[in-house]
Amino acid sequence: MQIYVDKIFLDNYVEEISTRFNYEIVFEKPYTKNYFIYDTNGLSFILGSNNTTKLINVNFMSGKLGWRLKRADHEGNLKKALGRTKNSLVIFDATAGLLSDSMIFLSLGHKVVAVEQSKIIFLLVDDAIKRAKNEIPFLKNINLINANSLDIYKSSQELFDIVYLDPMYPISKKNIKKSGDLDSLRSILEIENILNEENSLINSFMKEDYQKLILKRPLKAKKLHSNINYQVKGKSTRFDIYL
Ligand SMILES: C[S@@+](CC[C@H](N)C(=O)[O-])C[C@H]1O[C@@H](n2cnc3c(N)ncnc32)[C@H](O)[C@@H]1O
Repeated sequence: MQIYVDKIFLDNYVEEISTRFNYEIVFEKPYTKNYFIYDTNGLSFILGSNNTTKLINVNFMSGKLGWRLKRADHEGNLKKALGRTKNSLVIFDATAGLLSDSMIFLSLGHKVVAVEQSKIIFLLVDDAIKRAKNEIPFLKNINLINANSLDIYKSSQELFDIVYLDPMYPISKKNIKKSGDLDSLRSILEIENILNEENSLINSFMKEDYQKLILKRPLKAKKLHSNINYQVKGKSTRFDIYL
């Protein structure tokens, strides 16, 4: 993978990424379909297909995530799924993705350990955190890790109040048009040859010890495990809660 940088923007940060992930820094626009760009907007990813090119840049201060953040109070269902609490919880987000759900947890005053398996998604989100840290103080309460979340969970000594799972939905005719961000995530996982093993992730976490596990699912998806303690239902998704 290449990172396209104008020489005036070359800095220690982009050099560290290049060394850590073995990505090549280039000063000419690559001919490949997929590559990173590092410029005044921070790190972005160019996702090319046969006839379209999409630029992916995560920005917590504007756009969809910014909007959600300002309306954290309206994220009622996620709040209900967490349950009433005055305490600050420690939440393990096993499927970090673009961090929209974790941002809600953080905005409610909780601490989050978020794990993302994809290097590309991790880097985009990690860069967005770096850019927004001064503006959004609660970002100091997240620890974002690039790894398989099951490995991290198994080896962690920390006690988590909640395990949160939002595995990739299976593509259905109904959600195919609405899932712009999810489509991009899917395409990135394909580029990195990461298999989307939704059921095995859920089943593996079910076998672990946890205090409370919240599983986000499409509203009409089959119950995978019958021991659900309660559910919080929204218009298109639901949260299955296991205690
Ligand atoms: C549907 S997205 C999560 C979206 C996220 N809740 C949000 O609000 O942006 C699922 C994400 O989980 C990640 N994922 C799936 N299995 C994982 C695993 N075992 N370890 C770490 N990340 C995983 C995928 O790479 C993908 O980015």
